[in-house]
Amino acid sequence: MREIRKEEHIENYLKSAYKGDNLLSDIYIEYNALPELDFEQINTESELFGKTTKFPLMINAMTGGTEVCEEINADLARIAKEFSIPIALGSQKIALENDESIKTFSIVREIVGEKNVVIGNLSSNSSLKEVKRAKNMIDADAMQLHVNPVQELVMKEGDRKFSGILENISSIIEELDQPVIVKEVGFGLSAQAVSRLYDKGARYIDIAGHGGTNFVEIENNRRFDCDFEDFYPWGIPTAKILLDIKKDRKEDLFLISSGGLKS
Ligand SMILES: Cc1cc2nc3c(=O)[nH]c(=O)nc-3n(C[C@H](O)[C@H](O)[C@H](O)COP(=O)(O)O)c2cc1C
Repeated sequence: MREIRKEEHIENYLKSAYKGDNLLSDIYIEYNALPELDFEQINTESELFGKTTKFPLMINAMTGGTEVCEEINADLARIAKEFSIPIALGSQKIALENDESIKTFSIVREIVGEKNVVIGNLSSNSSLKEVKRAKNMIDADAMQLHVNPVQELVMKEGDRKFSGILENISSIIEELDQPVIVKEVGFGLSAQAVSRLYDKGARYIDIAGHGGTNFVEIENNRRFDCDFEDFYPWGIPTAKILLDIKKDRKEDLFLISSGGLKS
């Protein structure tokens, strides 16, 4: 079931037509005619989880679990290695249920080696034991926990239980001896949600706003018994979230802003 779904996600993503607006075209970076800085002085390197990353970019969680997904992960890993940027894996739940698919994820660590940041991924309703197993499977530098109630609701077989998630995330952050990134999948974490997560100990958050990948459309195209098209515009635009968070930005909060960034 999960294997088929993972391939359908890729297929449906490639077929998706709805163009959401992340509102980033409303933002401009003010030009400075007097930078007082030489081009050679510009350094895009930074440190993440004790490793050097050459650009403030990452390859985000997408796939794993089947042969096709393994090929995609291998290609993405080569790109991550070439540019020395972090790479995250798609949800590893499949590999927790079926040992045979572990290699479709661990191939990423094999290709990038120890120098690159590799980030594992599971749902935020996972147990600490599952998160530890997923982490060890790929020698992860950090684990992502995704929250995705809208996607789950559009999936016929999706979860319907969303209570207790915040407490679960909090206890995993406390117990895991590795950093935890909490992320959405393209509907956005509001400034209020970010603040609630921060209060529960989250220090790495990926807002994953609206305006890029649209999981209502991707899931809607997997089912034929009802139509969720009216929900395609749902979600908080990436730029709006960033501006909202800026008003009360905590200094020790590391923010990742996925959600429709194309250039
Ligand atoms: C095909 C596909 C599969 C994805 N699978 C996962 C996943 O397994 N776990 C997860 O946390 N996010 C997953 N995502 C969401 C991305 O990590 C990201 O948060 C989201 O696509 C928003 O960014 P974007 O608009 O730049 O694509 C997936 C995205 C795509 C396109």
